[in-house]
Amino acid sequence: MARLDMTETFHHISFPGHIHTQDSLNYALHFQFRDRDTVIATYPKSGTTWMQEIVTLVKNRGDPQLSKTVPNWARAPWLEQHYSAKVLEATQGDRIITTHLPYNLLSSALQGSKAKVIYVARNPKDVAVSYYHFHKMAKFLPEPNSFDEFLDSFLEGSVSYGSWFDHVKGWTSQAGVLANGLYISYEEMWLSLAAENWKERRPKDMLAFGMTSEIYLRERMLRDLQGSMERISSFLHCPLVGDELTNSLRHCSFSSMSDNAMVNYTQIPKEIMDHSKGKFMRKGKIGDWRNTFTEEQIGIFDTVYSYQMKDCPLTFMWEC
Ligand code: A3P
Repeated sequence: MARLDMTETFHHISFPGHIHTQDSLNYALHFQFRDRDTVIATYPKSGTTWMQEIVTLVKNRGDPQLSKTVPNWARAPWLEQHYSAKVLEATQGDRIITTHLPYNLLSSALQGSKAKVIYVARNPKDVAVSYYHFHKMAKFLPEPNSFDEFLDSFLEGSVSYGSWFDHVKGWTSQAGVLANGLYISYEEMWLSLAAENWKERRPKDMLAFGMTSEIYLRERMLRDLQGSMERISSFLHCPLVGDELTNSLRHCSFSSMSDNAMVNYTQIPKEIMDHSKGKFMRKGKIGDWRNTFTEEQIGIFDTVYSYQMKDCPLTFMWEC
């Protein structure tokens, strides 16, 4: 199937042309944020859709009605995409706004704003692999060819939405953003949010104490009330209690989201996303890069990473 090979270049960064125009990108730069807005900022493939689901659930106190009936792009539109102006202007009250733009392009629009910002980052080896597979199915992105070729473009920052390094350093080095914002990693969400991940890890203590996985999960989830969901919900001033929390956890799990047509992109026409080439909700794991990277690619990646991140205090969990 042919690719929708259109690219929109804006401030030296390329964006997929079928959903971005110069007007839509300029609209984002001059956007009037409202104090009640929640902004989800991410580099692609870092857990954007997951955070859109979490914020929707938190704001609806664990009620999945909205998550199950309205597509993610309509309830948490991407600021820079061409349909968003209409959606955002029509939304009264709290708005959830998503963006893949780098911080420097949004800094003046965010200046002085009281909008809440959640920045999600993921270890870039898993991002690169996830992005590579996404290029295969997303017909609005260029053909990725081999992983080796794609990795070169990823490391030099010539892929769509620009450099991962600039994105992560740009958003997380802003004292202003951090003061009114929340930084969270995909890996932290994975470890504390996704109940089924605990099953998968088959912890030794569960077996040692003869606990069934059901009991273990309940215990574990209770302990994790101190975890990511609590951080996110208290940041949004919507602390969840009892069933609100357990329902939110259940509906934002990988398996629940994989079955939810409002977030798994199966409703999108084949010409735009070809699900015969791969799923959007692909694996949802930490450390899957091990199955793709060669030793040589690991060496090259680590050298570029050390150089690019030498002054950045962030650390990532690469495997678990
Ligand atoms: P993989 O391709 O590694 O599976 P984004 O929404 O930023 O495009 O990120 C997509 C990535 O997040 C995909 O990664 C997807 O599977 C993963 N993801 C989405 N929802 C998830 C969830 N509930 N739990 C774990 N991973 C999730």
